[in-house]
Amino acid sequence: MNTSGGLPFFGHVIDGEEVASLDDATMPDVDPYTREQWATIACGAAADAEVAVAAARRAFDEGPWPRMGYAKRQELMHRLADLMGEHAEELAMADTRDMAKPIAQSLGDVERSILNVRFFADHARMATADTYPMDSGHHAYLRWEPVGVIAAISPWNFPLMLGTWKVMPALAWGNTVVWKPAEDTPASATILGRLAIEAGFPPGVLNVVHGYGPDSAGAALTANPDVDRITFTGESGTGKVISAVAARNLTPVSLELGGKGANIVFDDADLDNAVHWAVQAIFRNAGQVCLAGSRLYVQNGIYEEFLSRYKAATEALVIGDPKDPATEFSAALASEEHFTKVSGYLGSAALGGGQVLTGGLGQGWGVQPTIITDAPADARVVKEEIFGPITVASRFDTEDEAIALANDTRYGLNAMVFTENLSRAHRVSAALHAGTVWVNCFYIRDLRAPFGGVGDSGVGREGGDFSREFFTEPKAVIMQIEPQANQG
Ligand code: NAI
Ligand code: MG
Repeated sequence: MNTSGGLPFFGHVIDGEEVASLDDATMPDVDPYTREQWATIACGAAADAEVAVAAARRAFDEGPWPRMGYAKRQELMHRLADLMGEHAEELAMADTRDMAKPIAQSLGDVERSILNVRFFADHARMATADTYPMDSGHHAYLRWEPVGVIAAISPWNFPLMLGTWKVMPALAWGNTVVWKPAEDTPASATILGRLAIEAGFPPGVLNVVHGYGPDSAGAALTANPDVDRITFTGESGTGKVISAVAARNLTPVSLELGGKGANIVFDDADLDNAVHWAVQAIFRNAGQVCLAGSRLYVQNGIYEEFLSRYKAATEALVIGDPKDPATEFSAALASEEHFTKVSGYLGSAALGGGQVLTGGLGQGWGVQPTIITDAPADARVVKEEIFGPITVASRFDTEDEAIALANDTRYGLNAMVFTENLSRAHRVSAALHAGTVWVNCFYIRDLRAPFGGVGDSGVGREGGDFSREFFTEPKAVIMQIEPQANQG
């Protein structure tokens, strides 16, 4: 392991080597549970991002990666997945130290990350491409050409999982990548970069550059004309800034942004199931999830009973040290800055008259699993993405009212519906303004299905064929079959 001043050191991974910053700048990596620095990170500036893009450019223009074919790339990616499996504990503990995610959940993220690698490698290898039968004596067919250099910019809430969700389809389709992980959660990205070298990836194919966003490595990547696509997950405001910068070079962007997910429980729902998912929806990863079910709408007839069961299940969560495998809910949020933001929503200005049914401030940088009731529909706690373990519960009478309440948001990433009425399930799913609707479940994903949001939740979709759309340039090839076909 690399060290610096007795602490682990995580460098950039550029052109097949782990390196320090050009000016040797570093940034501290703080464990939000202990509130102490646990590692040191190379802090990239614009110059480091430029070197990384140049390496990716060379690897794309001249190197073997785009030319070796799907099968060979698939083999290398599966080798990387194998190595990730061998290093699962190390990868998971890196995310747990970086953002205080319970280790059991970090290990789950590593499994999903490995699945991302294998799935996208196989998806590209197995893909078919259309042919277009022509009557004119010609034959047209489609080729999925890689686009070039991809900049992937990711957030801190699922550091390895969201990184691989972007990087792996880009690689599988023959592109080269510069990945800038979030400054709060950089360690697992360097480990992945090291493993890619060990797996035998050619230099420059998967580059990791660390640093901040504005005026730093992140912004430099988005402005670089040698970058052919930008895939970003993070805050809606950041997405708007990146879109504007990318437009100057006509660089296409894919944006996965924030959310304020509605969770609608009808009075005919299976209550055990609905309570289970209502807890998961907002308290898994301490609600630091774009998909979080942060607005809970419960039909009047079951409101009291549902709330009392929901409160009991919430209070039963095991809160503790994120490194403890028994911990279900981390005693700390991801950073001091984030703790300050989330805890601000417990103040009376944000609650707007809402009451704390259970929860409140925790210890250190922690907020307990919190349920708010009786907040007016225009309270900040109802309107704004908190990205923390705070849910607002409200009541409704009719199906139409539930739909109107759920759609009363500028976000539109996802929504949940709990009902045993089949017609209602279809009707409400169709009426909800969201990229994903879950019926009687939550978080369940199929990597082929589209993932993304409407409104301020994003632009574009990821997953299976939808990732292919973004990471390839479809090319039409039209061939003459009959020599006389070209004659008038
Ligand atoms: P953020 O937007 O602050 O940062 C995300 C990444 O962008 C980081 O790597 C950061 O360094 C970089 N960045 C920031 N400003 C930049 C700029 N001007 N140019 C280039 N790069 C820049 O988001 P954060 O705080 O890390 O993550 C939380 C947010 O992410 C939440 O709002 C959440 O809803 C959203 N999110 C959305 C998901 C989705 O799939 N829709 C999934 C996970 C998180
Ligand atoms: Mg942020």
